[in-house]
Amino acid sequence: MPLHVQDSWDSTAARPPLRWRTVKPQHSALLALLAAFALYGLSSSFLSDPRNVPDSDRVVPLGASDILEQCASRRNTPGPSSDLFLRDRSDRFEPGTRPTLIKNVTLWTGARNGTEIVYGDIYLDKGLVQGIGYIPEALYTSRDTDVVDAHGAWVTPGLIDLHSHAGLVSAPITAGALELDSPNGPILPWLRSIDGLNTHDAAFAYAVAGGVTTVQVLPDNGHNAIGGQAFMIKLRKTSQRTPTSMVIELPYQLNGTRPDPYAPRWRHLVMACGESTRAYGNRMDNMWALRAAFAMARGFRDAQDAFCARAEAGLWDEIATQSYPEEYRWEVLVDVLRGKAKVSVQCEEAVDLDAMARLSQEFKIPISSFHGASEGYLVPGVLRSTFAGVPTIVLSTDSSRQKRETFRASEFAPKVLAENGFPIAMKSDHNLHNSRYLLYEAQQAHFYGLPPNIALASVTSAPATSSGLLHRIGILREGADADLVLWDSHPLQLGATPRKVWIDGILQVDAERSRIPIPKGKNATARREPPKVPDFEAEKDKAVRYEGLVSLRPNMTVGGRVAFRNVGELYTRDDRDYANFGLDVREGNMNVVVDRGRVSCVGEACEGENADVVIDLRGGAIVPGMMSFGPSLGIEEIENEPSTGDGARVDALRVNVPKVMGDIGGLVRVSDALQFGTRNALVAHRAGVTYATTSFLKSAAFSRGSFIGGLSATFRTGANHGMERAAIIKSVTALHVAIGRAAPISPSYPGTSVSTEIATLRRLLLKGEDENTETGQWFKKAANGAIPLVIDVSSADVMATLIRLKNEVEERRGSYMRMVFSRATEAHLLADEIARARVGVILSPSRQFPWTWDERRLLPGPPLSNHTALATLLKHGVTVGLGAWDASHVQGTRFDLGWAVWDSNGLITKKQAYELMTTNLEKILDIEGRVGDMGELVAYEGGSALDFTSKPVAIILPARGLVEMM
Ligand SMILES: *[C@@H]1O[C@H](CO)[C@@H](O)[C@H](O)[C@H]1NC(C)=O
Ligand SMILES: *[C@@H]1O[C@H](CO)[C@@H](O)[C@H](O)[C@H]1NC(C)=O
Ligand SMILES: *[C@@H]1O[C@H](CO)[C@@H](O)[C@H](O)[C@H]1NC(C)=O
Ligand SMILES: *[C@@H]1O[C@H](CO)[C@@H](O)[C@H](O)[C@H]1NC(C)=O
Repeated sequence: MPLHVQDSWDSTAARPPLRWRTVKPQHSALLALLAAFALYGLSSSFLSDPRNVPDSDRVVPLGASDILEQCASRRNTPGPSSDLFLRDRSDRFEPGTRPTLIKNVTLWTGARNGTEIVYGDIYLDKGLVQGIGYIPEALYTSRDTDVVDAHGAWVTPGLIDLHSHAGLVSAPITAGALELDSPNGPILPWLRSIDGLNTHDAAFAYAVAGGVTTVQVLPDNGHNAIGGQAFMIKLRKTSQRTPTSMVIELPYQLNGTRPDPYAPRWRHLVMACGESTRAYGNRMDNMWALRAAFAMARGFRDAQDAFCARAEAGLWDEIATQSYPEEYRWEVLVDVLRGKAKVSVQCEEAVDLDAMARLSQEFKIPISSFHGASEGYLVPGVLRSTFAGVPTIVLSTDSSRQKRETFRASEFAPKVLAENGFPIAMKSDHNLHNSRYLLYEAQQAHFYGLPPNIALASVTSAPATSSGLLHRIGILREGADADLVLWDSHPLQLGATPRKVWIDGILQVDAERSRIPIPKGKNATARREPPKVPDFEAEKDKAVRYEGLVSLRPNMTVGGRVAFRNVGELYTRDDRDYANFGLDVREGNMNVVVDRGRVSCVGEACEGENADVVIDLRGGAIVPGMMSFGPSLGIEEIENEPSTGDGARVDALRVNVPKVMGDIGGLVRVSDALQFGTRNALVAHRAGVTYATTSFLKSAAFSRGSFIGGLSATFRTGANHGMERAAIIKSVTALHVAIGRAAPISPSYPGTSVSTEIATLRRLLLKGEDENTETGQWFKKAANGAIPLVIDVSSADVMATLIRLKNEVEERRGSYMRMVFSRATEAHLLADEIARARVGVILSPSRQFPWTWDERRLLPGPPLSNHTALATLLKHGVTVGLGAWDASHVQGTRFDLGWAVWDSNGLITKKQAYELMTTNLEKILDIEGRVGDMGELVAYEGGSALDFTSKPVAIILPARGLVEMM
C-alpha cells in the first residue's frame, strides 16, 4: 500500500489546491533527503543574522499582526481556561434541567490519590457539581430541586473508557456504518473519529447503564501506524443530536477545522505498532512510516519557528515572499511535537514498546498513554524512558492470549505497573468487549492485587488525567461536570450495578423509576466495602520472573490422604436422585478428608489423622469442577494465530468439499483436532473449569464459522494427553450447525442466506443424505435423537422456525430430537415455546449485547430491565446452561455465575448457578453419567467460589485418584 506524503515544504493551507504525490514505502528515504534540502533552503533564505539588516530597510507588512498572533499561538498550551474554575454553568448545560440534590451518599471523589471519601450530600445544578458535603437547605429549597435519598450508598464520578470504538462499529453491526480502520494507511493523522461517529449506536445506552459516561473514540484498532485523531465524547443524547455536541471541549471552532488558537483544547492522536499494522508491511516498515511522518512534521515546526523568529524580530523583508510554513496534512503532528496533543499508542511487545520509546525520544513526542502494552509489566524501564514523563498504561484483563503478541499478558500487570509508579487505566476496547462492563475490568484488576483506590482511579481520574480532562471529569469536586453514578454496592464488588447515572446533571438511568428493585442482600453492609481479595503476591512475582509464561502444571500431586480444614461450603454431585440429578449442598464449618482422590469423610469429626497434606481453606469452598461450552478451548493455542490451530475447514454451503473426503457435508470431528496442554485449557483447569465441550463454531459476532460445525468433543482440560485415563469424556458429543445472518465484519460475510441454511437443514433431517456418508449418518442420528443437535442461533424468529422444523421431523420420523439452541440471545422471547418443545438452551455469553442484527431484542438485565434472559428461561422451566464467549474468558467463569446470581434477584441460588455449568450442561448435551462420581472437585481458599474472596488451591481428581496442589 502506498504511503501518501506531500512533496513540498512551502505550500500553505491558504493556497489550494494542494498537489500530492505518492511515494512507495521503499522510496521513502527520499523524504529524508527532501527534508534536508528544505531545511537547507530555509536556513539560507531567512536564517541570516538579523543584526546585519539596517533599520531603514525594515518594512512592516499589512498582515503583520495576524502573523504575530499566529506565531504567538504556537506557544499556547492546551488545558482549562483560567476562569474555568469560576464558571457557574457548564457549556454543556441543557436549559430546563432541574437541579438535583443527592442526600446521604458515600462519595468517592477521586481526590487524594483516590483515598478521599466524603459522607454527606452532593448538589448538582447547571450541569455542574455545585456543592459537596454539607449543603445548606437554602441553596435548594427555593428552587425546583429533585431530591434523591441515597441511604448512604456509594457515588463515584462517571466512568471513563480511554479505549473504545463505539459509534464507529455500531451495534448492531451493519455494513453501512463500519467506520473503523481506514484502509488508506498507514499514516493517517488527518482522519478524525468524530467524522464517522454514528449517534444512533445502541452501545451508548448500554455503556451508560454500566456507569460509563465518557469514552475516547479511537478511529483505528491498531491497523495504521497513525490511525487518526480520537475524540473524548460523553455518551448522553444531546438536544442537538450531533456528534459535535457529544465532544467534550472540541478542539476546533465549528466554522473551521483549525484548533482554536485562543482557547486551545487538547487534541488526541492514535498511533500503533505490532502485529496489526502488518497490512502495510512489517514492524520495520511501520516504524519507518512513523519516522518519515514525524520528520516531515518536525521540518514544518522548525520552519515555523525560523519564520516566526524573523517576524518577531521585525525582520519582515526577509520573509516578505513567504507565508507561515505549514501543511494541512501534517498540522496535527506539528501540534504533537509542540506538546498540544495527547498521544495514545497501541503496542504490545517489548520490541514494539522499545521502538516507540526510541521514536518518542528521537522526535520528542510526548506519549500520554500506552494501550494494550501486554509486555509493559516486563519492561517498566522502557515505558519510563519515553520522552516527557510517565505514560498512563491502558490495560484490559480480558483479552490475553488471543494474539501471539499478547501471549505473555498477565492479570497481574496492573499491580506490577502501579507498583512501578505508572498510572493505570482499565479499558473495555469496545467493541471487542462490551463497554458496559468497564467496571468489571477494574474489579478484576483489584482482585489480582491492584489497591482499591488505584482500581477505582483506573476508570475515573486516571483516564481523565491522561486525556487532559481532569478539570471536568473523572473527579467530583465543586465546579466539575455533573457526571456521576449511584451504585447498589461498593463498585469493586462483583455485580455492582448503577441505580442512577447522571451526565451533565441530567438523569440517564434510573432503576427506581423503572421499578427495578435492589436484589436482596446486594446492598448489605458487607458489600459496602471492597471485597477482601486473596493474596496473589507470589503469583505476581512468578509472572514477572517467567516473563508471563509461568508453568501451569500443579506444584505437587498427592495420591494419598489430604485433609481440608475450615471448609465453609461443600457441593457434591447428588447420586441419590440420579433421574433428576443436581448438586448436594452442605454449609457450615467442616473438615473434609480426601483419600486417593475421593471424599472419604465429611464433618467436624474428620480430623484426617495421618493425612499427607493438611490444607486450611479459611472458610473456603469445595465445589464441582465446571464445564466450559464453546469454541477454541483445546483445539488451538492462540486464537488469532491460525498456525497454532486446526487450520481452515470447508464450509459445504460455500465451497465444494474435496472429493476425496467422500462426504457432501465435509463433516469433521473436534476429537480429531484436540491439543492437550494448551495454556487456555490449563488456565481453565486451574480456574476450576475442569472439563470442556468444544465445537468448531465460534460464537463470537466476528466469525461464526461454517453452517455445518462438525462434531464436538468433551474432554478434561487438565489432561496431559489424549490417551491419559479419562482424558476424553465423550469423543462425539453433539452435532453442530449455525444459522443466522453473518455480521458484516465476519470473514464469512455475507455468507449464505438464513433460508438456504434452514432449507439445507430440513433436507438433511427429513430426506436424509446417504447413510454411508458421515453427514448422512450423523444427521440421521440427530433426527432420531441419538445425538444432540446444537444450533448456534440468536434470532427468535429463526428459533421459531427451528421449533416448527423439530415438530415436523418428529412427526414424520416418529422420533424425539434433542435440539439445543446455543448463543440464543433472543430465546427469552420464546421461553414458553422452547420449554414446551423441550429444547435446551446454552446462553453464551452469559451477559449479552446486540453485536448483530439477530441479537437486537436481547434482555439487558438491571438497571435496564428487571429480568435477565437467564432468569426468564429458568422461570419457564427451560433447561439452561451457560457457554463461553471465547477461550480466554473461561478463567472468569465463576465470576459470571456469581454475577448471574445477583442479576437474578433471588431467582437463582448459588446451587442452581453451579448446575448451569455442570449438571445442566450435561443434561442438555446428553453426557449425564459420563462424569458422575468421576467429576473433579475444586477447593477454593478464603471464601465462596462465586465471588472475589477466594482462589483455587487444589483440584481433587477421582478419575486419577489424586489431588493436585497449585
Ligand atoms: C497512591 O496510592 C498507592 C496505593 O495505595 C500508593 O502506593 C501510592 O504511593 C500513592 N501515591 C501517592 C502520590 O500518594
Ligand atoms: C444515611 O443512610 C444510612 C443507611 O440507610 C442511615 O443509617 C443513616 O442514618 C443515614 N444518614 C443520614 C444523615 O441520614
Ligand atoms: C468562527 O467562529 C468563532 C466563534 O464561533 C468566531 O469568533 C470566529 O471569528 C469565526 N472564525 C471565522 C474564520 O469565521
Ligand atoms: C437495601 O435496599 C433496600 C431496598 O431499597 C432497603 O429497603 C434496605 O434498607 C437497604 N439496606 C441497606 C443496608 O441499606
